[in-house]
Amino acid sequence: MSKEYSHHEFDVIVIGAGGAGLRAAIESAKSGVKTAIITKSLLGKAHTVMAEGGCAAALQNADPRDNWKVHFHDTMKGSKWLADWKMAEYHAKEAPDRVRELEQWGAVFDRTNTNFINQRNFGGHTFPRLAHVGDSTGLEIIRTLQEKGIHSGIDVFMEYTVTDLFKNKKGECIGCIGYNRVDGEIHTFSAKSIVLATGGITRCWSVCSGSWEYTGDGHALALKAGAHLRDMEFVQFHPTGMIWPPSVRGILVTEGVRGEGGRLLNIENERFMFNYVPEMFAGDHAETIEESEQWVQEVVSGKLATVRRPPELLTRDVVAKAINSEVKAGRGSPNGGAFLDISHRGEEAILKKLPSMHHQFKELAGVDISKEPMEVGPTAHYVMGGVRVDAETQESCVPGLFACGEVASGLHGANRLGGNSLSDLIVFGKRAGEFAAKKSKELSQPKIDEKDINLAITNILAPLKNFEGENPGKIYDELRDMMQNQVGIIRTKDEMVSALEKLNEYEARQKNASSGTSRKYNSGWHQALDLINMIIVSKAATLAALTREESRGGHTRDDFPTPDDEYWGQIVNVIWMEDGEVKIRQEEKEEMREDLQEAIKEVKKMIAERAAEQDGEK
Ligand code: FUM
Repeated sequence: MSKEYSHHEFDVIVIGAGGAGLRAAIESAKSGVKTAIITKSLLGKAHTVMAEGGCAAALQNADPRDNWKVHFHDTMKGSKWLADWKMAEYHAKEAPDRVRELEQWGAVFDRTNTNFINQRNFGGHTFPRLAHVGDSTGLEIIRTLQEKGIHSGIDVFMEYTVTDLFKNKKGECIGCIGYNRVDGEIHTFSAKSIVLATGGITRCWSVCSGSWEYTGDGHALALKAGAHLRDMEFVQFHPTGMIWPPSVRGILVTEGVRGEGGRLLNIENERFMFNYVPEMFAGDHAETIEESEQWVQEVVSGKLATVRRPPELLTRDVVAKAINSEVKAGRGSPNGGAFLDISHRGEEAILKKLPSMHHQFKELAGVDISKEPMEVGPTAHYVMGGVRVDAETQESCVPGLFACGEVASGLHGANRLGGNSLSDLIVFGKRAGEFAAKKSKELSQPKIDEKDINLAITNILAPLKNFEGENPGKIYDELRDMMQNQVGIIRTKDEMVSALEKLNEYEARQKNASSGTSRKYNSGWHQALDLINMIIVSKAATLAALTREESRGGHTRDDFPTPDDEYWGQIVNVIWMEDGEVKIRQEEKEEMREDLQEAIKEVKKMIAERAAEQDGEK
């Protein structure tokens, strides 16, 4: 094959330009190594903006009772005790500094009356902990990191899709290949370290909050390169996405609405969340409407809450399943969800704290949320599973391949707390950039084998050479509908077995899909290649879900409806790829360090004492 590509050389390449990728690249460039970002989309357009309500960090600005131990406890408990405790410790301890750093770099957070960064309540967080910018926090963080990044000497390759990673004979990751989406030209990149920061996989479900980029590219690249994934069965269905009109179904309605006192109601106007408080959260949440409303009054008037949070602020897995159950019981809203009402807060407060939601509903649904309730339902928002990484360095089991943000795994276990994603990406984005750069300083510029390049190019161009095949868009739509119906919020064995069969069928069909012959912004070609990744990650998620015979966090089995703490509470599912097949094994989770076990006990005691105090006062 004649040389038909351009070649580039860097010390560190970061794939993905959301919050994690930008933060990693900033850190890498800061340490003086030649750094580039490759992004599938335009710089600044990333799923990070969908973390609207805030970034969790125990800053202690809104409530001095908060500290890293409480944040650590809440993250572990929210994860249903499956999170990697080492990551949860780094995260809880380092998030406050990372948020303050963003402020120094220009992020304009909302302020308290005493002019500190303000923090709001979110599900599963014991205290108000989310630093926020109205309901556009992710957008402000991306804007800030982008500003900082472009002044840090980072090279940016925009609208490039990476299709393969390269390794040397020693099994080290040494580069990648991709194509420019605009002109179709192929580019190779040699790098001493690669950081994956490609985000998630939720585009594999037809009702999702993510946009077209979210096709699991990084998860699939890592698997194909020999890295391991964990926790792929845990997919977060955010309880509140728009459900009407159909054209906007899935678009996120921030949890900030509930953090500001929003009430969830069924068709009978009942605050149904009071009926869904699970045993593990009993005592943490208000038991009456009066108690809930007292909490809202205290919080909105800037006082420390003296009573428990409303049950609308239970963790996302619980709220999403509750809405699902109400719909199944025939008490759902007209379009198959629930009502979310914030109108009691009045127009002024809504325009101040939730301006984007006000605008979004007015423009897209013709609903004025300061006067009437929103109609909402679950939407696939986040995958807890991803590349298994070392907690400290974020390096995978493939030397030189790092991962951070949603494509990595460990911090969130079976369920992520809202707001822990923005803090995840700044804490671990920084770590990944730092350690990738450090490693690169020890290495010389690697050379990619020409044979590997030629094979990758053949694969990239394959869809352009199929003339008779079907439109990849058809397979894409079928896959998304199938995953929604068969590997959705509630799963059963039979449906998942059939899902795996269908995924094999899509795999065969993808190989023949044809997209026309042009390489110039040919979206059919792009979709045919995206499908490869979507099929791989859908298989990984389905296989893991089929293997876990219990219900926990973002994984609910109709045939195994209860958690099995004794066995499955101690197990993580690990996935790898062999001969093109996705394989799975179960591994025991590592026992928590003793001082951290003590920290958990301390926080549990504090929460129990507060609950007892309140029960005594009743
Ligand atoms: O509801 C939200 O604003 C989403 C936040 C998150 O996913 O962390």
